[in-house]
Amino acid sequence: MRIGIIGCGRIARNHVSALRSTEGVHVAAVADIDPWRARAFAAEHGVDRSFGDVDDMLDGGLDAVTICTPHAEHEAGVLAAAAHGTHVLCEKPIALRVEQAERMIAATAAAGVRFGVLFQRRFWPAAARIRAAIDDGRMGLPICGGVVARLNRGADYYRAEPWRGRWATEGGGVLMTQVIHHIDLLQWFMGPARRVTGRCATVVHQGIIEVEDTAAALIEFASGAVATVQAGTTFQPGLGVQVWVSDAHGRTASVMEFPEGVGFTDVRTLPGEEAFASGYRAGQPFDIPLAEIHDHLAPYHAAQIADFVAALRDGRQPAVTGRDALRSLAIVEAVYESSRTGSAVELPS
Ligand SMILES: NC(=O)c1ccc[n+]([C@@H]2O[C@H](COP(=O)([O-])OP(=O)(O)OC[C@H]3O[C@@H](n4cnc5c(N)ncnc54)[C@H](O)[C@@H]3O)[C@@H](O)[C@H]2O)c1
Repeated sequence: MRIGIIGCGRIARNHVSALRSTEGVHVAAVADIDPWRARAFAAEHGVDRSFGDVDDMLDGGLDAVTICTPHAEHEAGVLAAAAHGTHVLCEKPIALRVEQAERMIAATAAAGVRFGVLFQRRFWPAAARIRAAIDDGRMGLPICGGVVARLNRGADYYRAEPWRGRWATEGGGVLMTQVIHHIDLLQWFMGPARRVTGRCATVVHQGIIEVEDTAAALIEFASGAVATVQAGTTFQPGLGVQVWVSDAHGRTASVMEFPEGVGFTDVRTLPGEEAFASGYRAGQPFDIPLAEIHDHLAPYHAAQIADFVAALRDGRQPAVTGRDALRSLAIVEAVYESSRTGSAVELPS
């Protein structure tokens, strides 16, 4: 299978190593709007061809591409892949706006190509265990849940790439970029959301970013369940992220991400499966560098990319489709709208 990568920045490193370790895959080409970056990336990773133009790469005939560009460029990359009849796996968030995501889903469906979106935290064993317990009835459908995300991002992080921190290019802040992963897990456990109320603010990084560094939301689900989300990049040190759910019998399960990139079972009170993780320790490293976070995530990128390749071989849908990925974006978009208008936002069923 000949696969290419669009966008040769930080996370593309996880993609190239995952693809190269997947049996039967040949990383045939890479493309970046900056041809020098594409060339250097290809040379470093032993990729045959590099391009400064995505269409030129796609004209060469590839079976699939993965997309590692900034959020605002995801739609163009997916539409280009669809136009060339090329299967596509895109980084999260699926897009800046739900209407773009709908166009991407429609275009890939019309072209008859598979469309997956990277939410590799679903492949943490601790997260998959919660979904499995709900699926096989050891845990009832959650009646309540939540995300608590206490992260640390400084001015250097936002200044490293000009697309970060801007509504036009990043589409949002802590919710859109970091916590969309955990909102994806929450709705994967709890089912479709139907109403969202939220408040966002730029409290600490004013003058550096336009987007929110602080957010709080109430999510009501079609099942009648409720959840809260509290998220910020203002914590020093960062304290990670917890995603938890609880059923009508009080059975509670949570996955904790700490340090960033590492997900483990935090609390599990299912009969016979009780587990309680110990807390933070003084002296442990708190804020690890971005490259180290990506290294921790690499095995799960590899797992989802392997699933995508297997889906293409087996003629099935990938683990996380474009339609699945639209759900977390719809929740984040609704938090922003609710924060702007002061009203709850109803989501389409
Ligand atoms: N799944 C995860 O855990 C995870 C982690 C980090 C980043 N990401 C996502 O990966 C994506 C990229 O993030 P990053 O940190 O690697 O960004 P980055 O800025 O390091 O790299 C982006 C690259 O895309 C290139 N690019 C920009 N526009 C392009 C276009 N139109 N065509 C081709 N190339 C283009 C840039 O030149 C750059 O090399 C984002 O969607 C981000 O949210 C996901």
